[in-house]
This record gives sequence, structure tokens and C-alpha cells, in this order.
Amino acid sequence: MKDDRDTATVRVWDVPTRLFKWALVVLVVFQVVTGKLAGDWLKWHFWSGYAVLALLIFRILWGFVGSTTSRFSDLVKGPLAGLAHLRALLGAGVPREAGHNAVGGWMVLALILALLVQVGSGLFATDDIATDGPLVAVASERWVKRMSTLHHLWINLLYVMVALHVLAAVLYLVVKKQNLIAAIITGRKKRNDVAEPGAPLPALRFRGNTLALACLAVAAAIVYGIVRIGG
Ligand code: HEM
Ligand code: HEM
Repeated sequence: MKDDRDTATVRVWDVPTRLFKWALVVLVVFQVVTGKLAGDWLKWHFWSGYAVLALLIFRILWGFVGSTTSRFSDLVKGPLAGLAHLRALLGAGVPREAGHNAVGGWMVLALILALLVQVGSGLFATDDIATDGPLVAVASERWVKRMSTLHHLWINLLYVMVALHVLAAVLYLVVKKQNLIAAIITGRKKRNDVAEPGAPLPALRFRGNTLALACLAVAAAIVYGIVRIGG
């Protein structure tokens, strides 16, 4: 007879974190397409690039004031936690976690930092034809050349990181029967994927959407300020 506790779900991700994650996916794909198409598409590439930068700054702020599972204090775990997690992942164990597991947390940090490098180099990039990033006017020719080259090349590292990230999510689904993908859409995980049966659930605190909107407004203001530096 199926035990209800098996199907009980627990809320683990807040709405702002989920909206951040999937908006980022859509914008990054749009960035790659418009960057490759170049020409007139670069105008859209810039606007969407500013949106990516605002999202990243929002996520950094939310990492300090957001809900428990979105906080860097919950995301960044030590090497021992990482090893324990890999042992559970590669062994017969069942890794249980409300938020990001130790290795997943490092990947999230690495993705956010790598995207900041892509955006940062883009602000100084030029297509050497008609389109200059907003900060080209305030930088030396040598710096602009370097940043344009970095912008071209760094994206390849992002391709590898995203591929590893997606592979990990699929591995969880297929090998550990844990649907982390559905969880980052619905915000809920199965109770047994969060805590041992019968063990208490971790106390999770969820912050409101108004605070998230305030963080997003601050992030947008910072992006506006950065772009204005270039005049
Ligand atoms: C405000 C932010 C950004 C600005 C101002 C910007 C600017 C530019 C410029 C000027 C180019 C044309 C370079 C050329 O054709 O030589 C370019 C190309 C490109 N950008 Fe961006 N970019 C930004 C953000 C991003 C982001 C966030 C991504 C991806 C996550 C991205 C991915 C690309 C790609 C893939 C190309 C094509 C490079 C190639 O031809 O191989 N950009 N970007
Ligand atoms: C452009 C491509 C992508 C980027 C840049 C990206 C980035 C991220 C980031 C930054 C997070 C952390 C969310 C947070 O705490 O704020 C995340 C989480 C997650 N992403 Fe992606 N992602 C991408 C594509 C995908 C795809 C295609 C899938 C699956 C089909 C996926 C599955 C997941 C899952 C399952 C999580 C939650 C991980 C966990 O439970 O620890 N991602 N992603």
C-alpha cells in the first residue's frame, strides 16, 4: 500500500529564485543567438545583456537577503560536504538536500561568476564594424581589443559549464530518481529527497516578493549607472 509520506512534497525554492533561473536560461540562449547573428541584432544583444547583468546582480543581492535555500550561506559548503555528497552520488546512497547540494552550489557560483565575466567583457567589446559596447568610449584601445577577444572565447567555457550543469541534472533524474529540474520549476521537492523518512525537515525561511522586487530595482539602477559611465 503506497505510503502518503512518499509522495508528500516540501516547498524548497522561492518564486524569485525560480524566475531568476529560467529568465537567465532564456536570456543566455538569446545572447548567444544574437551575438552570433551580430549586425543589427547586436542592439537586442545589448538590451538583453543589460537584463542578464541586472539578473546576476539581483541574484547576488538575493544571496544575502533572500530565502534560506537561495542564500550563499546555504549554497557554499566546505570540501568535506562536497566529498560526502560525491560519495552519496556515486555510491548507492540517496543524497538529500533542501537547497543546492555541495557540488551543485559550487557550480551555481561558478556559473554566476562566469556569466559576470561574459557580460563584463561585453561592455567593453566591439565588432570592429559599427557596434561598440557602452564602455568602449572610456577604455584604451588595447583593453577594448583584449575584452573583445575574451568575449569571443569565454563563451566556450560557458558552453562546457552549462553542458556539465544540465548533465548533472539529468544524472540525478535517471540514476538517483530525483527530479531537481521539476523542483526548480514548481519550487517543491519530494519530502524523502529533502530529509530521511521520519527525520525532521530543515527549517526553511522564505522571504517575500516585495523584497525581491526591491533587490531587482537596485540591480537595475546599478546597471543603468554602469552603462551611463560610457556616456
Ligand atoms: C551588456 C552585455 C553585453 C554586451 C554589451 C555585448 C557585446 C557584444 C558585442 C559588441 C559583440 C560582437 C563582437 C563581434 O562580433 O566581434 C558580441 C558578441 C557576442 N556576445 Fe555579447 N555582449 C554582452 C553580453 C553577452 C552575454 C551575457 C553573452 C552570453 C552569455 C554574450 C555572448 C556573445 C556571443 C556568443 C557573441 C558572438 C561571439 C562570436 O562571434 O563568436 N554576450 N557581444
Ligand atoms: C543557459 C543555460 C543555463 C544556465 C546559465 C543555468 C544556470 C543555473 C543557475 C544560476 C542555477 C541556480 C539557481 C539559483 O539558486 O539561483 C541553476 C539551477 C538549476 N538548473 Fe540551470 N542553467 C541553465 C540551463 C539549465 C537546463 C537546460 C537545465 C535542465 C534541463 C537546468 C537545470 C537546473 C537545475 C535542476 C537547477 C537546480 C539545481 C539544484 O537543485 O541544486 N539548467 N541553473
